[in-house]
Amino acid sequence: MSQFTPEQIFSRSPVIPVLIIKRLEDALPLASALLRGGIDIIEITLRSECALAAISLIREQLPQMLVGAGTVLTSADIDAVVNAGGQFIVTPGATEPLLDQLRQCPIAVIPGISTVSEAMTARAKGFYHLKFFPAEACGGASTLAALAGPLSDIQFCATGGIRPSNKQDYLALAHVPCIGGTWLTPQAAIDAQDWQQISQLAAAAIQ
Ligand code: 3PG
Repeated sequence: MSQFTPEQIFSRSPVIPVLIIKRLEDALPLASALLRGGIDIIEITLRSECALAAISLIREQLPQMLVGAGTVLTSADIDAVVNAGGQFIVTPGATEPLLDQLRQCPIAVIPGISTVSEAMTARAKGFYHLKFFPAEACGGASTLAALAGPLSDIQFCATGGIRPSNKQDYLALAHVPCIGGTWLTPQAAIDAQDWQQISQLAAAAIQ
C-alpha cells in the first residue's frame, strides 16, 4: 500500500471536499462526480453509520481518489479508519492523549487546532501540517495570517464556514495551501442525485 505524506495531501488539490455520506449507495457516484470535476482527494467524516464502508468502497473502486477520514475523535476511530483503508486522518481538535495516539498512526495525520497554544502543542509533538477549525468562527483568514508570524514552519488547511465567497482569502495565504468544506456536496444535490451539480461545484472550486 503506498503511503502519502502530509505534504502530498496538502499539495494534492487547493480544495478538499468534506463529505457526510448518509447512504452507502451515494458513495461511488458522489466520488465519481468530484473526480469528473477535477478533484481527486476527499475527506469522509465519521458522522454517519456507513462512513467506514464508504471509505473502503471508494478505495476499492476508485483507486485514483485519495481518501481520508474526518471527525476522528478516539483511538478506536484511528484503528477503524486504518482498517477501512483510509489514506489520511483529520481531527477536529488536538487533545494531548489523542495527539500521542496519532503519533503511532501508520497513515498521514492532520490534527485540528483553533488556538496558538493548540498549534504549539501539536508542533511540539511533531505535527507541522494542521487543520484550522472552525476557521470562520475563529476569526477566519486574518487569524490564520497572524499565526504565520510565530508559527512560520506550520502549514494549515482551513475548514469550517468556507464558501466560494471567502475561499480566496484563505488560499491567498502562503502557509495555507488548501482549504476544505462541505459546500461542494450539498445534501439536497446528493438527495436529488444531481451529480452534475456536484461536478460543476468541484470544477468551480478549483478554478
Ligand atoms: C467540518 O468538519 O465540519 C468541516 O470543517 C466542514 O465545515 P463546513 O460545513 O462549514 O464546510
